[in-house]
Amino acid sequence: MEIEKILEQIKKDIESVETINKLNEIKIKYMSKNGIITELNNGIKDIKNEDKREYGIKLNEIKNLFNALYENKLNEINLEEINKRLENESIDITLPSTNIPMGSPNILEKIIEEIEELLMSMGYDVVDGPEIEEDKYNFELLNLPKGHPARDAQDTFYIKDEELLLRSQTSPVQARVMLEGKGENPIRIICPGKTYRRDDDDATHSHQFMQIEGLLIEKDVSLSDLKGTFDVIAKNLFGQDCETRFRPSYYPFTEPSVEIDISCFNCQGKGCNICKNTGWITVAGAGMVHPNVLKNCGYDPSIWKGFAFGFGAERLAMLKYGINDIRTFYMTDLRETKIFNRKDVD
Ligand code: DAH
Repeated sequence: MEIEKILEQIKKDIESVETINKLNEIKIKYMSKNGIITELNNGIKDIKNEDKREYGIKLNEIKNLFNALYENKLNEINLEEINKRLENESIDITLPSTNIPMGSPNILEKIIEEIEELLMSMGYDVVDGPEIEEDKYNFELLNLPKGHPARDAQDTFYIKDEELLLRSQTSPVQARVMLEGKGENPIRIICPGKTYRRDDDDATHSHQFMQIEGLLIEKDVSLSDLKGTFDVIAKNLFGQDCETRFRPSYYPFTEPSVEIDISCFNCQGKGCNICKNTGWITVAGAGMVHPNVLKNCGYDPSIWKGFAFGFGAERLAMLKYGINDIRTFYMTDLRETKIFNRKDVD
């Protein structure tokens, strides 16, 4: 075996290599099934016995040298690759940054979420109802039969004859939930959602707006529970000094019915332009669920009682954030996302 020649060749071969692929080729040349070193290994059987020892030592020398040079080269190439990558992928921190404008939560969603969280902490579930609604749920089950004069105030968009319409209030969800409760289960839900009316749009009217409906059905509940519940809501939304008062009102689906006023958070009741010098601001309609509605929806009014309420989400947001035009919510003017003082934006 011309050991010196082979050693020389290995050194030359490995030294000239610059890539992993080429290094692998060298490995094949020497170490594969038909490789030079493997063949030398196989050749040992043809060596005379007295020369075998000598041959074995030389062969080992060749293998050790190959392995050492191979490992060295492999590390060298890997290191080079890493350095090259680091160089290519390095970030030039002196480049000017791209200014990505930050979004912010929709102000209506934000106020709805605030109310949802508060009422969930009081044991209410948040439910959904369809925006395309049947006359039956939007009016009839709620004690507003066809021809009832109170329907006039809620003229809406009809989809098919007078039976299918865009809901004019979230109150139909009350009927849907009660029917599901089968006259047996107590209920505590709120339902925020879009509602529609045939109004001409101006600073205080929009043909589409959002309401938050609330309904509680229990065996033993009274108007004072509604007052307590609203007191908590008002204090949470407008501060601990905020007072609540009821004024008599009329809704076909509640008896008695009330308007809920809160003391003006701007002037603390002294009188200003927000409360039109009355010291009070109306925020919701409410009342005790009318016995006819309980009956229509499968609850026996001699056993069950309940209260219901409904707010306009835009009105609350306008009061809380000092917005004076309801169209602000629907004009997709990006300034709307910046100017109002929102907790999670500053
Ligand atoms: N649905 C009423 C409206 O759109 C608001 C309302 C008043 C909801 C009294 C209620 C309620 O649940 O009890 O004007």
